[in-house]
Amino acid sequence: MNEHYFTPSPSGAQTRHPVTFRVHGHELTLIAGRGVFSAARLDLGTAVLLRESPVPEQGTVLDLGCGYGPVAIWLAVRSARLLVWAVDVNERARALTSENASAYDLGQRVVVAAPEQVPESLRFDEIWSNPPIRIGKPALHDLLERWLPRLKPDGVARLVVARNLGADSLARWLAERGHQVARSASSKGYRVLEVRPS
Ligand SMILES: C[S@@+](CC[C@H](N)C(=O)[O-])C[C@H]1O[C@@H](n2cnc3c(N)ncnc32)[C@H](O)[C@@H]1O
Repeated sequence: MNEHYFTPSPSGAQTRHPVTFRVHGHELTLIAGRGVFSAARLDLGTAVLLRESPVPEQGTVLDLGCGYGPVAIWLAVRSARLLVWAVDVNERARALTSENASAYDLGQRVVVAAPEQVPESLRFDEIWSNPPIRIGKPALHDLLERWLPRLKPDGVARLVVARNLGADSLARWLAERGHQVARSASSKGYRVLEVRPS
């Protein structure tokens, strides 16, 4: 099968299985399935992002490329005053994130949407993402150029990227585009980049 996890409408039988993970002693069990990113277990990069990033107490956060929802669900579970937009091009990913949000009774605090469904005027306090590096550099740059301007002026994006998949060159590119970039964590071969509008 020549499909990627970012295929909008994955073919093949839909499967479902639980994925359990623990961050800072808090355990979550989510449903994942074939055709979504890292369906077998929580991705190591995502684990680094969740472990190393402070959960905001309130505000509106974008989970860019939500997959089956580990970032969005973690944020909404950990902070009851957050509104989380969980966005993905993959319809299976969106369906699983919706299901996982319902299972944790997160009601309307997790809004699952395709990219084009996010209102143009909406601005985010934070963007959290394990971005889809495998879409290729030009597409990744387009993706970030589309969403980073949606941060509020005092907002921050937290991006986890593997060092061997170009974390440092992405950081340089972001700095060249005028963003303030800090390496807020480096763990297990991943960097968490903290990106602020300049
Ligand atoms: C590396 S995966 C991370 C998934 C999930 N956050 C996790 O940690 O397991 C990146 C996600 O970005 C999604 N994606 C790819 N292109 C996208 C785009 N243009 N807009 C939004 N999401 C996209 C993919 O479908 C995939 O689910």
